[in-house]
Amino acid sequence: ELVVHITGARPNFPKAAPVIRALEARGVSQELVHTGQHYDEAMAKVFFRQLGLPEPDVDLGVGSGSHARQTAAIMTGLEELFLDRDPALVVVYGDVNSTVGAAMVAAKLGIALAHVEAGLRSFDRTMPEEINRVVTDQLADLLFTTSPDALVHLGHEGVPADRVHFVGNPMIDTLLANLDRFDGDQVRGALGLGAEYVVATLHRPGNVDDPADAAELVKAVHAVADQVEIALPLHPRGRARLEAAGLFTHERLRVIDPLGYVEFLGLVRGARAVVTDSGGVQEETTILGVPCLTLRPNTERPVTITHGTNRLVTRPELAAAAAEVLAAGRATTWSVPPLWDGRAGERIADVITAFVGVAVSPWEA
Ligand code: UD1
Ligand code: UDP
Repeated sequence: ELVVHITGARPNFPKAAPVIRALEARGVSQELVHTGQHYDEAMAKVFFRQLGLPEPDVDLGVGSGSHARQTAAIMTGLEELFLDRDPALVVVYGDVNSTVGAAMVAAKLGIALAHVEAGLRSFDRTMPEEINRVVTDQLADLLFTTSPDALVHLGHEGVPADRVHFVGNPMIDTLLANLDRFDGDQVRGALGLGAEYVVATLHRPGNVDDPADAAELVKAVHAVADQVEIALPLHPRGRARLEAAGLFTHERLRVIDPLGYVEFLGLVRGARAVVTDSGGVQEETTILGVPCLTLRPNTERPVTITHGTNRLVTRPELAAAAAEVLAAGRATTWSVPPLWDGRAGERIADVITAFVGVAVSPWEA
């Protein structure tokens, strides 16, 4: 009974790694697909190496494009692959185009579908990720959730509760498993940063795609750099527009290429605070106890606020919020969200093993 995992973009890799490892230990036969949605060394390949992922069995090499073109390329490639392999289960991760593309192909071929990180909702349909989440969850047979609010959202959308499994957060499994490798001083030294610094990541279309938004963003980030040194490993999406808006001109703002997973989390671990619009980074800072200022009007990850160190801020609010956080020092009152304990991959593997074990057709039984 073959299980096929679909990955494609940077945030997929740390979510898939613990699930693949736990299924491997249970002797389940599996294949790993990389759609190639992300393809740069620093956006994809470095994660395979650092996270001990197997080499992908298939790399579809779809690359970049508009939503329709990219999703269509993912679907065309996967349809052919699924027809050839006839998997018992397809596992998709998170909310990227590779996730929803794979979900639609599996559902139409009548192949069972598991969604890891189901039920998160920003209720903001201007985010492509929200559309990907809603569609994928409607199609999934097994929905693995990271926080209790997800079950409520899925219930409202008519997803039967017996499909939903609250398992915790596999991305946090990866973080906890690699904690010993996160050496902030080493990365900081290599970058020539002082002891007090902030890490920033920015790539959300709502912040970087429109020139007026990008200009406001650059102003906000520069106002933080007036207070403290910043290291900004910049996602390729925003690079040209933010550069045109003057991002690179502040001497205390170090704009660098995207970092490997181990280097990035090393830097975050040693930071005074993080400024981000990432989904995953809100969760990672929650566990590392590093104050996180999220430049978004909403979050699909509310436990990072109720339990963690996260706070939503607008671009004009950022400088004042940073000043507050820098004065307050490290977070002291946060708690770990339920089941973010490093065992989510094991729980997911238990459910999948039972599912593929019983999902044999009557002819084979
Ligand atoms: C995608 C996800 C987003 C996620 C982000 C994580 C969707 C709809 N969006 O956004 O949810 O938060 O990944 O990083 O799936 N590019 C490169 N090299 C690469 C990859 C991308 O230069 O290896 C550039 C290309 O110009 C490309 C642009 O980045 O057009 C956007 O890439 P894409 O994968 O379409 O979306 P992301 O913004 O990365
Ligand atoms: N990350 C990384 N290097 C970087 C920036 C991010 O390794 O320079 C990691 C980060 O720790 C997290 C993942 O990439 O595990 C999140 O990806 P991203 O922010 O691109 O996507 P999102 O979570 O917003 O979908």
